[in-house]
Amino acid sequence: MNQDYIGKVVVITGASSGIGAALSQEIASRGGFVVLVGRNLDRLTEVMALCPGSTFIQADVTDKGQVEGVCAEALARYGQIDIWVNNAGRGISRNLLDLSEEDLDEMIKDNVKSVLFGMQAVLPYFQEVGHGVLANVSSMLGRIPAAPARSAYSAAKAAVVSMTETARMEFEKSLPQVRIVTVFPGAVATDFGNNSLGGGVDSRAIPNAQGVTEVGQVIADGLMAGPVDLYTRSHGAEAAIGHMKKLADI
Ligand SMILES: NC(=O)c1ccc[n+]([C@@H]2O[C@H](COP(=O)([O-])OP(=O)(O)OC[C@H]3O[C@@H](n4cnc5c(N)ncnc54)[C@H](OP(=O)(O)O)[C@@H]3O)[C@@H](O)[C@H]2O)c1
Repeated sequence: MNQDYIGKVVVITGASSGIGAALSQEIASRGGFVVLVGRNLDRLTEVMALCPGSTFIQADVTDKGQVEGVCAEALARYGQIDIWVNNAGRGISRNLLDLSEEDLDEMIKDNVKSVLFGMQAVLPYFQEVGHGVLANVSSMLGRIPAAPARSAYSAAKAAVVSMTETARMEFEKSLPQVRIVTVFPGAVATDFGNNSLGGGVDSRAIPNAQGVTEVGQVIADGLMAGPVDLYTRSHGAEAAIGHMKKLADI
């Protein structure tokens, strides 16, 4: 059995369901200690029961103070953080002309501010110890905004890509042992669609939606080594390049 996470402490936001829960289980099965972060106490308790050696911290990741609290509490409990995954996020189903200012604010808060707060909480600690892995979960829609009614979500996930790549540049010289990864899932069979603002297509009903267990395995395989753009589907990078070529008529 793969035990590549033995002794690693991994903080995962949005670990109470879907991709975060699957990734938590995968990492725990490989010997890691997971700090599960989310708001729903019942679901956090359920996932923790499936992740030996793990613990949870109830927090709203759109609140900077609470995210800082997660970092401090994880360090108090385990004495170290090796990997931090900003995975929590939320979708929306609203056509462009129907988008309200509040809708856009909500997408930025849930998908962008949450990621920024996570980065600002853990990177100073990685600076102090000189190593660590930071992963931000974007979406294929952050590279290819090809889904109607998802413009605000796609824009937010594109912002995650930009912030992640910029952070990599800002730290690559001073902190070569800090690895910064962007994760690009395509459609994944979770409650994501059902949880989207304004409702939406159930992600489990999307043809060829990727199984969540497989997604958890692919992310666990790629957090510590391999390309810094981590596509959960093998054709992800090719699809992104194909999209750009098509628009540029190359
Ligand atoms: N499923 C897909 O098709 C797909 C595709 C591309 C990218 N993604 C991205 O993958 C990530 C995980 O999505 P998923 O499919 O696993 O969706 P999901 O099943 O709806 O899970 C979302 C998770 O985020 C947490 N969360 C949301 N807002 C939060 C907040 N303010 N504070 C703390 N936790 C919060 C939820 O926990 P609580 O409710 O307990 O707070 C839940 O654990 C998201 O960033 C999503 O955008 C998903």
